Amino acid sequence: MEKGTEDGVAAMAACYQGFDPVSYLQYNYTAPRADFERQDSIVPWKLACLHRAFTEGDVSGELLVDVGSGPTLYQVLSGCEVFGKVLLTDFLEVNRQELKRWLQDQGGCSLDWTPYLQHVCKLEGRRPSAWTEKAARLRLVVSDILPIDVHCPRPLSPDALPSAGADCLVSCFCLESVSPDLAAFTRALGHIRGLLRPGGHLLLIGALGESYYLGGPGVKIPVVPLDEAQVCASLKESGFTLIRLEVYTLPQDMRVGVDDVTGVFFVKARKD
Ligand SMILES: C[S@@+](CC[C@H](N)C(=O)[O-])C[C@H]1O[C@@H](n2cnc3c(N)ncnc32)[C@H](O)[C@@H]1O
Repeated sequence: MEKGTEDGVAAMAACYQGFDPVSYLQYNYTAPRADFERQDSIVPWKLACLHRAFTEGDVSGELLVDVGSGPTLYQVLSGCEVFGKVLLTDFLEVNRQELKRWLQDQGGCSLDWTPYLQHVCKLEGRRPSAWTEKAARLRLVVSDILPIDVHCPRPLSPDALPSAGADCLVSCFCLESVSPDLAAFTRALGHIRGLLRPGGHLLLIGALGESYYLGGPGVKIPVVPLDEAQVCASLKESGFTLIRLEVYTLPQDMRVGVDDVTGVFFVKARKD
């Protein structure tokens, strides 16, 4: 890594030392951003994109890896029905601990995921009360929660994956919010590509037009502001074929002062 890039990556890592999972969940995963009564709320939009992507029939295999899970589980609620094994990953121990508390079901979680589980059950045409079955399924298939660094050419420890790689990757709001610039974002995309088997799918969700977000009170984390054309160009440059790009524009009342995001993209792509 060149010196300037190395400094930029180190500065991002330093910012993340102030990341507070409890605040982050509160800012982004409660109403109005997670309002299941509203069609135009951001979380239901993300869940609908993921539901569609996982039920179209082309995404399949045994192993699903979520890159940069953070303290959240919504991103694997559809995928856990399709894959027999799910790996969660994050850079920070505090986030891995948060996920562990939910998986071990011993209380102490910072967010109640029940409405999320119920909503995805509804999308799947099941009774909302089937949420307990979905929770049990997720606890069954998540086999580990591992440290990851997308700035390393090999983001996971060498023995974490079978040699063929994962069948599918999900990654939400990670690459653009941990990269100092567009070049680092594209490079990170190339690094995570190495985790995927040829022909495997990438489901990527991320922020558009965002220059920062709050990782906790007063913890301003810089973000690479992306537009759709840049996302498409980075995917191409990193060896992915785009299958679909969808864009969500944030309604005014969803701009709640915890970031300056203007939209969200959802990408379904395949490793060439
Ligand atoms: C904006 S959060 C996204 C969390 C979650 N995926 C979501 O959808 O809300 C970005 C995440 O990237 C993680 N992260 C920070 N540096 C990273 C790195 N170098 N490699 C991978 N993940 C990193 C952070 O710990 C944080 O959980």
